[in-house]
Amino acid sequence: MSEEDVLYTVSDGVATITINRPKKYNALNIAVVERLREFFKQAEDDDAVRVVILTGAGEKAFGAGADISEFEGKDSKSVRPLAENGQALCTYIESMSKPVIAAVNGFALGGGCEIAMACDIRYASANARFGQPEINLGIIPGFGGTVRLPRLVGLGMAKELVYTGDQITAGEAHEIGLVNKVFESVEALRDGAMALAKKLALKPGVAVRVAKQSLNNAWQLPLKESLEFEVDVFCEVFDTEDMKEGVDAFLNKREAHFKHK
Ligand code: COA
Repeated sequence: MSEEDVLYTVSDGVATITINRPKKYNALNIAVVERLREFFKQAEDDDAVRVVILTGAGEKAFGAGADISEFEGKDSKSVRPLAENGQALCTYIESMSKPVIAAVNGFALGGGCEIAMACDIRYASANARFGQPEINLGIIPGFGGTVRLPRLVGLGMAKELVYTGDQITAGEAHEIGLVNKVFESVEALRDGAMALAKKLALKPGVAVRVAKQSLNNAWQLPLKESLEFEVDVFCEVFDTEDMKEGVDAFLNKREAHFKHK
């Protein structure tokens, strides 16, 4: 692949990762999945990065799924690394300490939809289309789609989407809770995602990290364990400088300035 198949920039505490194969509707070949993993790790390891935006180049696609040209000749054994790497990427995004915003600027199909679902927040442009069309290829979602989709939108809706392979509009995705907000154009989406990212970048980093962990637990663990974890991290943040700053700022009617410590 070309070095530029995934782009990475950082400004104002926000890392933007862009899938950059617009002529192939940003289809996710094996090399792109690997490169995405490297860039997400770079963002995670960089203290100057507080928030990550994931998007696709151009105005047509966020990601039209795994690269179907790489499916030819694959069997149950040789295809396994593809699914495992795709799942590992999604799990990495989900478990990162920093919020990740998917700015869905067009088709989010198959693996594109699955990666978007691993992000914390999904914003979309009105032209975005979501779906898990794998059934039409005689296969099923393999980057976590049959697992995250029902948790996000409910089992019945997920079954309809996975069994039919039908696409839904950004508005329909918003109605079922798959998307947080819809913007009229790709440009407005990019501005909206950046405004949200900059807002989140100013929030106290330790509290954001443990809030993300606790919210993820609510999704993944039994109630009792999740509640115990919440008490633990609720107490932990009382030892941070940011807690002292936040409370002092409130009591003295001034703006808080957090140091993420
Ligand atoms: N894998 C590989 N190439 C893909 C792709 C994918 N998932 N999705 C799109 N492309 C390529 C097309 O092959 C085409 O390349 P070409 O110009 O070299 O022929 C280019 O992207 C544009 O796609 P095209 O189908 O011509 O555009 P369209 O506007 O008619 O349709 C889609 C757009 C997204 C609806 C259609 O491309 C599609 O159904 N893609 C596959 C989606 C899918 O099944 N994803 C799950 C894979 S497991």
